[in-house]
Amino acid sequence: MTNPLATQIADLKLSNPTMLAAGVLGYTGLSMKRVIESGAGAVVTKSMGIEPRTGYGNPTVVQTDCGLLNAMGLPNPGISHFEEEMKELNKLNAPTIFSIYGFSPEDFAEVAKIAVEIGAAAVELNVSCPHVKKAGAQVGSDPSLLMEIVKQVKSQIEKPVIVKLTPNVTDITEIAKAAQKAGADAICAINTVKAMAIDPETCKPILANKYGGLSGTAIKPIGLRCVYDIYNAVDIPIIGCGGISNWQDAVEYLLAGACALQIGTAIAFQDITVFKSVTDGITNYLEHKGFNNLKDIIGLAHKT
Ligand code: FUM
Repeated sequence: MTNPLATQIADLKLSNPTMLAAGVLGYTGLSMKRVIESGAGAVVTKSMGIEPRTGYGNPTVVQTDCGLLNAMGLPNPGISHFEEEMKELNKLNAPTIFSIYGFSPEDFAEVAKIAVEIGAAAVELNVSCPHVKKAGAQVGSDPSLLMEIVKQVKSQIEKPVIVKLTPNVTDITEIAKAAQKAGADAICAINTVKAMAIDPETCKPILANKYGGLSGTAIKPIGLRCVYDIYNAVDIPIIGCGGISNWQDAVEYLLAGACALQIGTAIAFQDITVFKSVTDGITNYLEHKGFNNLKDIIGLAHKT
């Protein structure tokens, strides 16, 4: 019997559309193993670069009424140190996607090459972190620089290249089109929304970095709009990300045109059982509405 929840991103096959989003529980092989065992169809690591990076000082996270505000500063041990963590993940039947960042196209290409050498099933280019200078959104908002990054990465690896976009631009579809033109295999939309919090007591910004990225339920309508618009602009697969915390959110993203879904902040507010509750909810929805499989609903909101 065919699996109604099976989905595909380029040649990456997922048993269900849910994926761990970059930045949450993606530091160790064991934590990602737990996420896969709890039902995620794939996992994405914390973003990694060539060199180890300490990141910003504390505070790095603020809880808001409807999400989390974070500015970690891309802390990571350096891509090569992740080889050890892959030992746990290589044994499992779900792909590990490496989120990578760089400060130049050459950086990205080098990190991508190492990622694949140590076992990445695909790479996700973080060209969307809203607050690290000369990386993230600063490179991902410039279509020609983004194209150069994608081209250089594609020239180094044969695994799928996913480009994670920032919503902090005037027209996200222009960036998505540039990524597709340069050879990207898929788009992930969206990374966090640039935001801040101020403490009335101290009269100062709370985050040590002042600015951070907002994630969680507050940004779901923004992510949804971006996926809907990108679906009309490109013909490569789209992974929806931003504020998915239950099956209804997931179905909305699928109807907007996403073929897979990343979940991150909901893990902090619920726990890792969110992957199973979302996939169970999608299954019940398909049955209840008389759809055969996921493909029947991907992009359906465009046809009505
Ligand atoms: O601060 C951070 O490490 C965040 C990264 C991101 O939003 O991509």
